[in-house]
Amino acid sequence: MAKLWSGRFSKGATKLLDEFNASLPFDKTLYAQDIKGSIAHATMLESVGILTQDEAKSIVDGLKEIKTLIEKGEFVFDISDEDIHMAIEKKLIENIGDVGKKLHTARSRNDQVALDFRLYVQEQNQNIVKLLEKLIFTLSDIAKEHTDTILPGMTHLQHAQPINFAFHMLAYINMFKRDIDRFENSYKRADILPLGCAALAGTPHKIDRVKTAQLLGFSGVSENCLDTVSDRDFALEILFNIATVMMHISRFSEELVLWSSYEFKFITLSDEYSTGSSIMPQKKNPDVPELLRGKSGRVNGNLISLLTVLKGLPLAYNKDMQEDKEGVFDSVQTVCISLEILAEALKGMTVNRQNMQKACEVGHLSATDLADYLVANCDIPFREAHFITGHAVSLAEQKGKDLSLLSIQELQQIDKRIKLDVLEFLNLKNSMNARDSQGGTSVSSTEKQLENLQKWIEKRA
Ligand code: ARG
Repeated sequence: MAKLWSGRFSKGATKLLDEFNASLPFDKTLYAQDIKGSIAHATMLESVGILTQDEAKSIVDGLKEIKTLIEKGEFVFDISDEDIHMAIEKKLIENIGDVGKKLHTARSRNDQVALDFRLYVQEQNQNIVKLLEKLIFTLSDIAKEHTDTILPGMTHLQHAQPINFAFHMLAYINMFKRDIDRFENSYKRADILPLGCAALAGTPHKIDRVKTAQLLGFSGVSENCLDTVSDRDFALEILFNIATVMMHISRFSEELVLWSSYEFKFITLSDEYSTGSSIMPQKKNPDVPELLRGKSGRVNGNLISLLTVLKGLPLAYNKDMQEDKEGVFDSVQTVCISLEILAEALKGMTVNRQNMQKACEVGHLSATDLADYLVANCDIPFREAHFITGHAVSLAEQKGKDLSLLSIQELQQIDKRIKLDVLEFLNLKNSMNARDSQGGTSVSSTEKQLENLQKWIEKRA
């Protein structure tokens, strides 16, 4: 059959053009959304009297048959059909005859692709939320076991103050909760029907867009047709949301890589999620977190790529916009597998409490506590207390031990106002528990955060 749009052409397209022009190799991913949209469109056309009952039935049945054919792998995709919309419509006409030619009434491929792609993005918004939830459940199980596991909290990758491992996991949980919020907000913003805008200006046919919206489960109908067929904000949003998730995963992965090194030995990744070296027999490599960290690069690329495609386009549809899909498919696939494998790898991870504790015994983690002690108990202004503590740290360095292990005599040598009770303040656990302000790392504050998380989890279940 000739191309469906070939009326004004006297020569056929070259094979090279077909290959260059076609989106079919990748947009066949949208077959289910395309058929769903067409069924709703035909049903609406019938409801307003543009199609008879028989015509609508034969179109709907024909579309369902094509869906089965595609799912059985029996549909022959032909690149000269250009895209999934044309491929399905052509097959429909082949199968049910001339009545199939009525389906495209009051519709253009411009609003059709805007619909199909939006339906796909909306499904993925929901799917990714589910995967983020699962990851949070796994992290929450880990956190619950480790409110008492002390490790050095860092800034500049230098020992800063003692924190507990649950508190550290909760930091990531908060990032992933914000991610969920972003996908859900994007979903709400995109929850409007684009179909019925036709090419760009609407249609003279007396259609009922509210009906189509209801059939497809949209909460509303888009306001301006010119905007609607030009709009890919929903695609940009999912790309940004995914890039942000992957950035969070990448930071987490960086820590997992560090923590699993000989230098840290804070965690041991399970054999199932580690790999060996082809030459060095001793190696157990953290390939999973490394790949996760690496994959954040490509999803950033996909976001920048679509922003760049869109930024100079005049209204309304331009063929450049066909470049909107592959990056989104790739980012979606990447984030889905990443979320899944991260959760699995974490389930098999061993947390080496002793090594974390040992690491806290170097690096003068309680230096801030000494300064705070001088302020609270010796009535010394903070700047001066900071200075005095600096001397104490330097003495500890000279003696080759941690600040928390200086004797009371040594401390008093620095400042006579220091009393014996200071040792309590320099104790690691006490130091951690002293940070009891809202959102702080003390065990009780961490437990409070876990309680709030539990409430959040129960609400979502
Ligand atoms: N394959 C096109 C795309 O993905 C569909 C829309 C085509 N519209 C058009 N007027 N050529 O963007």
